[in-house]
Parts: sequence; structure tokens; C-alpha cells
Amino acid sequence: MIEDKKVSKILYGGDYNPTQWPEEIWQEDMRLFSLAKVDVVSINIFDWALNQPDEETYDFSILDKVMDLLRKNNIKVCLGTGTAAHPAWMAKKYPDILRVEFNGMKRKFGGRHNSCPNSPTFKKYASEMVKHLSLRYKDYNNIVAWHVSNEYGGACYCENCEKQFRVWLKRKYKTIERLNEAWNTRFWGHTFYSFDEIVVPNLLSEHFEVERTMFQGISLDYARFNSDSMLENFITERNILKKITPNIQITTNFMGFYKPLDYFKWAKYLDFIAWDNYPSNDTSYEKIAMSHDLMRGLKGGKPFALMEQTPSVTNWLPYNALKRPGVMRLWSYEAVAHGSDTVMFFQMRRTIGACEKFHGALIDHVGNENTRVFRECSKLGEELQLIGDKVLGGRIEAKVAIVFDWDNWWAIEYSAGPSLDLKYVDEVFKYYKELMDLNIPVDIISTDDVLDKYEVVIAPVLYMIKKGYKDKLEDYVAKGGTFVTTFFSGIVNENDKVKLGGYPGDIRKLMGIWVEEIDALPKGVFNEIVVEEKFKELKGSYKAELLCDIIHLEGAEMVARYGKDFYKDTPCITKNKFKEGEAWYVATSCEDTFLSKFINYLCVKKNIKPILCAQKDIEVTRRVKEDREITFVLNHSEEIKNIVLDKKYKDILKDEIYKKESEIKLNAKGVLVLESI
Ligand code: GLA
Ligand code: ZN
Repeated sequence: MIEDKKVSKILYGGDYNPTQWPEEIWQEDMRLFSLAKVDVVSINIFDWALNQPDEETYDFSILDKVMDLLRKNNIKVCLGTGTAAHPAWMAKKYPDILRVEFNGMKRKFGGRHNSCPNSPTFKKYASEMVKHLSLRYKDYNNIVAWHVSNEYGGACYCENCEKQFRVWLKRKYKTIERLNEAWNTRFWGHTFYSFDEIVVPNLLSEHFEVERTMFQGISLDYARFNSDSMLENFITERNILKKITPNIQITTNFMGFYKPLDYFKWAKYLDFIAWDNYPSNDTSYEKIAMSHDLMRGLKGGKPFALMEQTPSVTNWLPYNALKRPGVMRLWSYEAVAHGSDTVMFFQMRRTIGACEKFHGALIDHVGNENTRVFRECSKLGEELQLIGDKVLGGRIEAKVAIVFDWDNWWAIEYSAGPSLDLKYVDEVFKYYKELMDLNIPVDIISTDDVLDKYEVVIAPVLYMIKKGYKDKLEDYVAKGGTFVTTFFSGIVNENDKVKLGGYPGDIRKLMGIWVEEIDALPKGVFNEIVVEEKFKELKGSYKAELLCDIIHLEGAEMVARYGKDFYKDTPCITKNKFKEGEAWYVATSCEDTFLSKFINYLCVKKNIKPILCAQKDIEVTRRVKEDREITFVLNHSEEIKNIVLDKKYKDILKDEIYKKESEIKLNAKGVLVLESI
């Protein structure tokens, strides 16, 4: 679907559930799809029960009709494997397929995304289903992707998972002694003598809340194990599909910053990344952008698919406000502006029963094209036709990277102390937002990615330093890179065990400081960041909150000092010259006014320029492919804004040429798609 020869424009469409409707409606759907310029649908996402009425019978007669209809109407298909919800008969006959909750409660049949990932029944029947499906539809030439399962997630704590967890641990640690060592089990008398003594960490054992554990080592490994178990389910289906339909790309739909699954690890097994974007109306555009950038970063910058978004409204928030006129279009372009090669919705036609009947759809309960949402969608459909293939495959060129790591995320938030309010993604966002507000492109990268192509690398709260990462960072800075990290960094290894010899452990030399103590400030309590005279561009005093590392200089220079408390006048921001480069330590969580100056200062020093200087709430990104450059200008504000162009462009949507330095008026929620000429 992405980089597929059959695709010559941004695919437009989404989840379609014709099997919930009588056949008479299907023809009308085709008419409406054509009106809205829909050219792709995802089908068969939840039809396992329909396609397999019992253990021996597979009945694809309805799906056959749907597939034929779509092919006849030139609609491309993202074909679901349907394994995200098992049939009721299967749960009744083989209860091992049912999950056990965090509190130990065994579920009965119901809901969806409900199979235990380590259930032998699930593994067997999901594989069988995928075999049948792929053999049946392998010659349909309109399948652009396999959509495996749906939104993998959650966790299971059943006996099968427990058994499998022991196997996973044995594979990882080989001997029980090594496991004891890694988990520091002499603490609270936890020495294990056999793998069989290990039980799942949940409310019945080590936890008193989902996030709060008494034993970090086991909880961290269980998070990894759970992610791996579901990944194994994905890989099983993928391998069957690859064998039977080697030319069809395979994906599943991710969910942005979704904590339970280590998407960097998963990404290697997907042909392209697809994800579901469901912000609420008050989610900032920068937050949405950060999720897009994470999704793009999972496969080293490769375009991704926006697989789902609501055209208008969701049903699962406490207050499901409508997307205001223009917002669906604006957010669709925001996805494309950050690397999506599709614009897709959940769903095509609004269902009539169960919990999603009030979820937005292209076709509403009224059943025709005379709705605001349909009109907005068809207008966007037309525009995507105008854009054609111009952005397909286009990459974002970033000189700044932000490091993100799931193991680090899990470990930080399992940590008992120093502060419950420390949320990894929030700290990452603080830095990301400042870059976004300057319209400076950012790549979000993993700890496995190479750093050399970036001028600036920021790793907020790098609590866990994995084996080899210290060398990578030192090497990067030594060659001239600028590295920034923050408080509560360099504390533990992969097993969440403290690195002895003073924080920030492995990177103490690189940062040129030693952190002696960490002070947690309760909500509403602040310290002060007072910038040294010499750093004129950053001048001022600013709020420090959350955590304050108390540090000693060991070669680094003091950029700012604390303004209060018993550690007043000790360093709170430092810069260390390390061979050709610089390593900055920001020892506290800073208020935005400081961060915006700080990020700007670093970018100016490194000659990193905004794509376009624009007013507040105007987002500008650029996708580049060979010698074609497409610039997106998005007005997220409620007002008309003036934009001054930096060079000559063609407005693709209006088919107009703008001279260098033209001043364009951009409506509230308006979008410009500009080609450099
Ligand atoms: C998810 C699912 C869809 C649908 C939507 C509703 O993204 O993948 O099946 O339930 O949520 O918002
Ligand atoms: Zn289980």
C-alpha cells in the first residue's frame, strides 16, 4: 500500500463493515464512495465468527461477494485477517483463549481484542484462518495490504502466560542465578531456586496498582514479555501471509504512544507502519504531530499510513464533541505533512447497534450524502485527487532527533520514587513542542538508530542506559554533535539496576558532572533557574519543577544555577565540551519560556533553520522526494493568519503561482499545499 506500484495517489477511505448490512445497502455504498472519491477500504477486521461458524467449517460466501463488489468498483482493499475477536463457540469450547485480567479475574466471552496471546487454541485457529483467507484471496489484484488483527494491546495474566513467561525468562537468563542477579532478588527475600517458582506480576503478587510494583525487575520483564507475546502472534500470521502472498505488504494498526507495546521492536516485522489517530478536540496540534513523528520514526523515516481517524466524532470519550468544520481536513493534512501516504477513517458507514453506533462515519444514520461530514469528506477526496502522487514517498529531512525508548518508559514509570508525577512522554513532549513551534523538523528515533546525521540529539530523561549506548553517545559528541539530556538520567542498566559510582552513571564523563542527590518538588512547588550572565540569549530567571538534580561540576560549565533552597547557587544547567562537540545537562523540568529560548539557542548555534518562519499556531513541514519538495502550511488557530513565503511556490490545491515574498492570507483551520518551483 505504501510504495506499492498499484498506488499512484494518497489512498482515501477506511474501515468498512458491509457484513453488518443487508446487500441492498452495498450498492448505495458504492455510489457514495464514488461521490466521496473513496478508493480504499479496510474490511474483514472483525469477521472471524462470521467466516468460521464452527471448528471445521469455513464459509467465505459473504466475504467473496464483498471482495467481488469492491473489485468491480475499483476499490482497493486492505484485507483484515479478522483475528482481533475470537468466535463465541471457540471461547466456550476452549476457555484457554480467554484472557485473565490484571486483578486475576478470568474473563468470559465478550468484547474484542480478547484472546490470550499465549493460548494454544488462539495460535492454532488464528493460523488456520489466515491460511484459508490468503489462499482464497491471493489472486485478487486489488489487495494493497494485509491488515493483521487490529490494535494489538492490553495484557494477559493467565496460567498459559505464566508458563510461557518462565520459558521466556529461561531463554533470556539461561540460569536462575543470573535471573536472581538481574532482579536483585535478595531484596525482600525473593531468591528463586527454580523458574517454576516465578509467578506473573499483577495485583495478586507484586503490584498494588498497574503502574506500581514492589519488584521492578520482574514487572519490567513482564512488560517486555507481553509485548513480545503479541508480537509473536503478529509474526505467526505474517509468516503465513508472506509465504502465500509474497507480493502483498503486511501491516497492523498501531496507536501512537501506546505504552504496552514496544513498537520499535515490532516495526521491523511490518512492511509499513499504520496507525490510528484519535485526538480529542483539545489535544494540541503539536501533540498530534509528535505521534505522527514517532510513527514515522519507527521505520527510520519511511512514510506511514494513517489507518484510522474519525471523520467527525468518537463514542468512547466522556464528552464526544464533534470535530469542528475544517478540523477533519486540517488533521488529515497534518498526518500527510508528517509522512502519511494515506488518509483513512473509521468508519465508512455508521453502525446501528452496539457501542459504536454514535461513532462518526462518512455515511451517517440518515444514509445519504446530504450531511456536513459527507460534504467535508468529499471535498477532501477531491483535493487528494488533485495532489495525486506528488507527496507519495516524500521524506522529512530533520537535523534534530529526539530519542524515545519503550524500556526506558516502562522503567521510569515503574520506579518507586522520586516522583509519581514524572511522566516520560510529557517530558519528551516539552522538548518536541518547542521544536515544532519553531517549525524545525524532528525525527523521533530509538536507541538503535544512528546519530551521525543529526546536528542535535535530545534524550529527555534517559534513565536507562543500555549496553553500548554510552559509546554511541560519546562517539557522536566527540565528532561534533550536540547532545542534550535531562535530570534523572544515566541511573540504571537494562535490568533497572543502579549503576554504581555516581549518577549519571555511564555518561558521567560525557556530561562532565556528578549528580549527588535528587529533590522531588510537590505539585505547585517551584525552584528557580537563574541563567549566568554570559549566556545572554537565555537570560532571565525561570521556573524549575518536578525534579531537581543537585549536581557538581566535573569539567562542565555552569549555564544556569538554582535560585532557591539549600542548593541555591548550585548548577542546574550545564554544558560540557567533549572533544569536538557539546553535552548539555538540564537538571530540572523547565518552564516552557526557558525551553523555547534554549532550543532556539541550540538551533541558531548549529545553523538549523525553520522551514518557514511563521506566526504562532502555524505549522509548516516539508516532504522531499528526489528534486520535488512539497511544503504544508497549516493554520491551527481560530483566526486568519498572514504567511510570507520564502520563495516561489505553486499552490497545488488552487493551481496558482505565488512569487517569493508574497503574503498569503490563510483562513482559520486553513491549509496550503505548496510545491517549490
Ligand atoms: C479503534 C478500532 C476501531 C474502532 C475505533 C473507534 O481505532 O481499531 O475498530 O473501534 O477505534 O474509535
Ligand atoms: Zn494468557
